[in-house]
Amino acid sequence: MNLQFERHRRLRNHPILREMVRETQVHISDFMYPLFVTHDEGRHPVLSMPGVDHLSLEELKREVETLSELGIPSLMIFGIPAIKDDLSSEAYAEEGIVQQAIRVVKQENPKLLVATDVCLCQYNPAGHCGIVHGDQIVNDESLELLAQTALSHVIAGADLVAPSDMMDGRVAAIRAKLDEAGFVQTPIMAYSVKYASAFYGPFREAAHSAPAFGDRRSYQMDPANLREAIREARSDVAEGADILMVKPALAYMDVIRAVKESFDLPLAAYNVSGEYAMVKAAAMQGWIDERSVVMEMMTGLKRAGAEILISYFAKDVARYLRESGS
Ligand code: PBG
Repeated sequence: MNLQFERHRRLRNHPILREMVRETQVHISDFMYPLFVTHDEGRHPVLSMPGVDHLSLEELKREVETLSELGIPSLMIFGIPAIKDDLSSEAYAEEGIVQQAIRVVKQENPKLLVATDVCLCQYNPAGHCGIVHGDQIVNDESLELLAQTALSHVIAGADLVAPSDMMDGRVAAIRAKLDEAGFVQTPIMAYSVKYASAFYGPFREAAHSAPAFGDRRSYQMDPANLREAIREARSDVAEGADILMVKPALAYMDVIRAVKESFDLPLAAYNVSGEYAMVKAAAMQGWIDERSVVMEMMTGLKRAGAEILISYFAKDVARYLRESGS
């Protein structure tokens, strides 16, 4: 027999060679770990996200220690306020929960990169990401409050702000506000392409931020749209975003790739709460091998084009990488 074919398996036989020809690597320096801070005492598990807890400011100190030991370079703070009002005042209060949390983290370990989620949905009784009039989420009036929220985070010590509200013009408003206050060096990571996704379900339990009426489809994107993702990202680039983001991650790998190829800014992927919950649930049943599945997902997100991975799995990944000696 004289068959003509290529021997792809030659590069797969030796484990060392396999590693040498590997095209995509996951490093712990890629990760941003999201966490939830509350005014309550202690540490309380989020039931739909096993391994994720609501943290008091005191527990946050302990968590910072754990993250530092694990070599996780960065975290993203979400706050659960004590009071919600129509103007979302705790979102931009000097003694708001996020502002206090930022100071705690900076005090415990000033080297960590502290990012904050900038949004209003946790802070008003309607549970919407902007100001509500009747049944409308009004765009332009929301911009000032979002910009004020971002500025208050930066004054408290945040290194980077990440607006997730999906109001049009928020990046421009935040950039102008930060520049005016002299924070010209503080980057904005825009949730540029954020879909109206059912994968946020567990987060809304965790953040007490489910909408009281309606849904988020008048501001978050239709999951069916890819070209619109490019338009959204293009606006954020023009308005001064420094990093773009696609969210959720796993059902949107094509979007990650398309945004990556269309723009030359760094790109983040948010591996959201529902994606986390699905893997945890299946792993707890013994139906999948959690470690392999998690690493395969993270590798896939990097291969698709994300440089920054925002994931509740960051602590698990840190342990896996440590155990495998990489
Ligand atoms: C706030 C916000 C949400 C998430 C991040 N920021 C919820 C939403 O838009 O409904 C989701 C994060 C996750 O599911 O892990 N707007």
